[in-house]
Amino acid sequence: MVRILLALLIGMSLGGLALAAEPVIPKAKGERCVEDSRTMRTSHMELLKHQRDLTLRAGVRGTKHALKDCLTCHAVPDAQGQPVGIEDQRHFCNVCHGYAAVRIDCFECHVSK
Ligand code: HEC
Ligand code: HEC
Ligand code: HEC
Repeated sequence: MVRILLALLIGMSLGGLALAAEPVIPKAKGERCVEDSRTMRTSHMELLKHQRDLTLRAGVRGTKHALKDCLTCHAVPDAQGQPVGIEDQRHFCNVCHGYAAVRIDCFECHVSK
């Protein structure tokens, strides 16, 4: 009995560890990102936000950090090989945000595939 309880406890704490682990980030297509991965991990929101302000206020277009380009390389295929949309947990923009409890409104206006 004690042994079974112990096994259960260990199982539960391992389960907890698995939940606390880093999110698994789907592999991108292409050679490299628009900036190095470390910069992207910490600063992608700045890149995108600057762009958003610039685009909307000054009408700047066609720069290297367009959102649809992100999604071309970072598309995550479903079982049929079609890219998943933002409503799917596996979508590239959801993998860390779900974990970090970040909510973004971008895809009310932008397409997510
Ligand atoms: C030409 C293809 C390409 C484009 C365009 C691109 N990426 Fe990347 N991205 C990559 C590659 C390759 C990596 C390296 C990691 C990998 O291989 O999955 C990466 C890494 C990242 C990472 C870090 C992931 C990690 O493993 O920690 C983030 C975040 C990211 N990209 C976001 C973006 C955003 C946001 C955009 C649009 C502004 C974008 N990427 C555009 C190919 C691309
Ligand atoms: C490598 C993990 C990771 C990936 C992949 C990722 N994000 Fe993020 N994102 C974060 C984290 C962590 C934060 C919160 C940073 C903070 O609070 O300072 C964040 C914040 C943001 C914010 C700012 C939200 C706010 O309320 O200020 C935007 C915008 C954003 N991400 C856009 C995107 C888009 C668009 C994609 C997909 C192209 C994406 N992110 C993919 C980790 C990621
Ligand atoms: C209310 C609608 C709306 C919302 C919400 C919105 N955008 Fe945009 N965004 C636009 C419009 C309109 C443009 C200009 C389109 C063009 O340049 O053709 C634009 C342009 C952009 C661009 C540059 C061009 C492109 O197509 O990539 C980026 C990057 C961008 N937005 C990122 C974001 C991010 C990141 C978020 C969420 C934090 C966001 N947007 C939320 C309407 C919106």
